[in-house]
Amino acid sequence: MGSVPNLRGDYAKAAPDYSVEQDWAAYTPDEHALYRRLFERQSKLVPKYACPEWIEAISGLDSAQQIPKFTDVSKKLKGKTGWEIVAVPGLVPDDVFFTHLANRRFPVTVWLRKPEEFDYIVEPDVFHDFFGHVPLLFDPVYADHLHEYGKGGLKAMRLDAVKWLARLYWYTIEFGLMKVDNQVKAYGAGLLSSGGELAYSVDSPKPRRLPFDLERIMRSEYLIDRYQETYFVIDSFDQLMQETAPDFTPLYQKLRS
Ligand code: PHE
Ligand code: CO
Repeated sequence: MGSVPNLRGDYAKAAPDYSVEQDWAAYTPDEHALYRRLFERQSKLVPKYACPEWIEAISGLDSAQQIPKFTDVSKKLKGKTGWEIVAVPGLVPDDVFFTHLANRRFPVTVWLRKPEEFDYIVEPDVFHDFFGHVPLLFDPVYADHLHEYGKGGLKAMRLDAVKWLARLYWYTIEFGLMKVDNQVKAYGAGLLSSGGELAYSVDSPKPRRLPFDLERIMRSEYLIDRYQETYFVIDSFDQLMQETAPDFTPLYQKLRS
């Protein structure tokens, strides 16, 4: 999320809403093979570490063999929760991002990382966006929550509060953990798509795992270039929905002062 200098995608052909054609035919056999290897590695980890909602959804996607065609997945998704995928060249500006989410469109990056980035990549690529984010859009509560987040993002822009709302996204949508039958599972896309941090976030004794705490999240700066020091654990997507439902305006005022 957010606009970052030196973005590596090709923005030349993007529409004003930053959408592009996926141009599926342009992916090379090597790219499909690399995607397949990424998918295989994560598939060994997710049964133990992913939340049940994610596991249930990925099985219906038939997306293990090659980079998926977004239009096919969008059809399934639209029928289930009314969301669709919109292909984008890479990261998009905040207002564009929030507007897509507020219209139940999830931006997915079209390009795939290079082989040397197998273990680690700074910007989101198609593997992160698809494998990490898309399955949970099939969950009705998560889907509604992300829609509310998008609307909340447009509001945060008007209130000059995006910095705080972005931290919420980071500690939930990207790096969130969930308690499931007294075990910790991952639902954050940054974890689900990571070869190392997925197991680390759940098993390592090093990081803090705190119960979801909206104000604390908004006060917590985050690290973009190494494993997180703190994770926040929700009980359910219903809880996430409820805790984020109140008007954030007073909270933003409190954080500002
Ligand atoms: N309740 C938030 C507000 O008033 C909007 C929001 C909902 C933000 C869900 C994030 C997630 O700004
Ligand atoms: Co992401």
